[in-house]
Amino acid sequence: MRPATAHIDLAALKHNLNWVRELAPRSRVVAVIKANGYGHGAARILPALATADMLGVACIEEALALRKASAVQPILLLAGVFTPDELAVCAELNVEVAVRDDASIALLESARVSRSIKVWLKLDTGMHRLGIDPAATRQCIDRLRACPAVDGDIGVMSHLSSADDVHSDVTVRQMTAFDAATAGLSLRRSLANSAGVVAWPGAHHDWVRPGIMLYGCSPLLGQTGPEIGLKPVMTLSTRLISVKTVAAGEAIGYAGAYTCPKPTRVGIAAIGYGDGYPRHAPTGTPVLVSGRPSRTLGRVSMDMLCVDLDRFPDAQVGDPVTLWGRGLPAEAVAAAAETIAYEILCNVAERVHFDVTSG
Ligand SMILES: Cc1ncc(COP(=O)(O)O)c(C=O)c1O
Repeated sequence: MRPATAHIDLAALKHNLNWVRELAPRSRVVAVIKANGYGHGAARILPALATADMLGVACIEEALALRKASAVQPILLLAGVFTPDELAVCAELNVEVAVRDDASIALLESARVSRSIKVWLKLDTGMHRLGIDPAATRQCIDRLRACPAVDGDIGVMSHLSSADDVHSDVTVRQMTAFDAATAGLSLRRSLANSAGVVAWPGAHHDWVRPGIMLYGCSPLLGQTGPEIGLKPVMTLSTRLISVKTVAAGEAIGYAGAYTCPKPTRVGIAAIGYGDGYPRHAPTGTPVLVSGRPSRTLGRVSMDMLCVDLDRFPDAQVGDPVTLWGRGLPAEAVAAAAETIAYEILCNVAERVHFDVTSG
């Protein structure tokens, strides 16, 4: 068996969910598990999310997969529906729907469904992606209230664009706009993503919607998950399948992107961009070899990458190599590859073995 493995630690996920509860004690929690649970496997991690109040996904296909995996909580379609026929499925399967614009309201007005649908009116408080103008909030709520297909327990939500930057005044402006638009409406409200949960208590409201922090990564710039009390859920690892000494002046891997300045002990680890490891990770991207800090050398191949064993004369074939997770925050690897932890987690490929520990 090829040794590339994603170890999923469900105890860490439970810890992170509890951490959300500690930080936002008066809010209910939508656990965001879109994109196959940020690459961890949505069905795989469900048992650790039994106490979440709702599950957040990007589309009806993801909601259906969760119901198939016996998820019992309500599910929220964070971006709403894409075609009218989805509304009947939402009604049947207790799936709540974000209402992102005028057309979404019109769709609900003409819907004929077996049960009423719970909806969340999405406000555009400054991200300028989805949502209605906050000035139209009351008018839209009135339309939704008049809709036979819509359940009376309407929610209002918005999304923060810059909450990862604790010094940004954008979040303050978004919070102010959200509060002004929803003042006096006794409706359930939701604004905070993970960064909102961690850094912006004024954004907590009735429901928080954490994603990345559940998986143990920091939503804040310049900090790692463990630094703010989180535990990594995924540890991606493999093993050395070859060890050799490359002569001074010889170049390693595709395009000879790294030239050894001296005779160098090099380990070949069985993982590559075909497994979701970022191809753009340059020489120097951190890895652990048998738990000891080292670095990649040269270009990442589809199935392999090279690691520096210069300081480890004892390293040998079969030694474990950690790409990220316990002992090596995904944030550090993502930063080296000029991306974010969200992306490298989501990209972990099907062919990687997954093993799950419940802790
Ligand atoms: C509407 C919405 N809410 C919440 C989240 C969770 O965000 P995060 O993973 O930063 O906590 C997302 C993710 O992109 C989202 O789109």
